[in-house]
Amino acid sequence: MARWLTRLMDAQRPWVKPFGDAVHRIDHAIFQAMPPVRDLLNGRWLGHPIHAVLTDAPIGILFLVIVFDVVGQPAAAGWALLVGVLAMAGAALAGLADYADTDGLSRERATLHATLMAVALVLYVVDGVARLGGATDAPASTAAVIGSVIAFLVLSAGAFVGGDVVYVTGNMVNRHAFRGTGTKWLALEPAETGADGSIPEGRPIRARLGSNSLVLVRNGDAILALHDTCAHAGGPLSEGHLVGDTIECPWHASRYRLADGRVVQGPSVYDQPAYEVRPRDGGGWEARRQA
Ligand code: FES
Repeated sequence: MARWLTRLMDAQRPWVKPFGDAVHRIDHAIFQAMPPVRDLLNGRWLGHPIHAVLTDAPIGILFLVIVFDVVGQPAAAGWALLVGVLAMAGAALAGLADYADTDGLSRERATLHATLMAVALVLYVVDGVARLGGATDAPASTAAVIGSVIAFLVLSAGAFVGGDVVYVTGNMVNRHAFRGTGTKWLALEPAETGADGSIPEGRPIRARLGSNSLVLVRNGDAILALHDTCAHAGGPLSEGHLVGDTIECPWHASRYRLADGRVVQGPSVYDQPAYEVRPRDGGGWEARRQA
């Protein structure tokens, strides 16, 4: 079943890709111009994507429209429809903030998801308008009931594709979700060192620590280290640049505090794993993940 649905979604690529790229350009420009608003809607303050939190409400509330119609409560159905549409608009706003920094297959799926949700929203608005004017205790017309059922089917299809964006393409999933938290000291191997064997100062340096890649920044005698893979979507922090006491990812400009990996600017909503570094007996350095 999933394979068939995936083929169906892939078949939309001829219109989804150019349409998504065009919408993304505008969306990205809007949210890039106001980072605090984007961070708020991404959920950096919560440490969790807000869109995922907000999407459950409209789906649950709009299902009640069908339930209230079936049990003959047209006024309650009308209120549920109104609240559901407002909740959908809120979820859409958060989704657009995430979409501004979404690439590749995730963007294609997110475009399809957003299009289905926009169609569902229009159907619900039309359905709500069709219900206006009737007596509050009169049952909803057959057309209105059928309309809300069709809208809910489109909404469910959009939710399915939205699930794909997260569970299949990994969008807004913490890139360090499965990383171990071992604190054993291991030898650190910087990709480059100065002529005297020291780590160059003032710019990010990539290093190996066992199977992990780190980014190192030397600050006097102190060496600050974070995992090199950006928690947002995997960008290489060692190719980013320093901004004060933070490092900015080269892909979507998330910023992490070098001292402890705390995310201070989105679109990432997750902190970055930070490492302690110390000189090793016999020369060189060793590092371990901060507790
Ligand atoms: S990969 Fe998106 S901000 Fe780093």
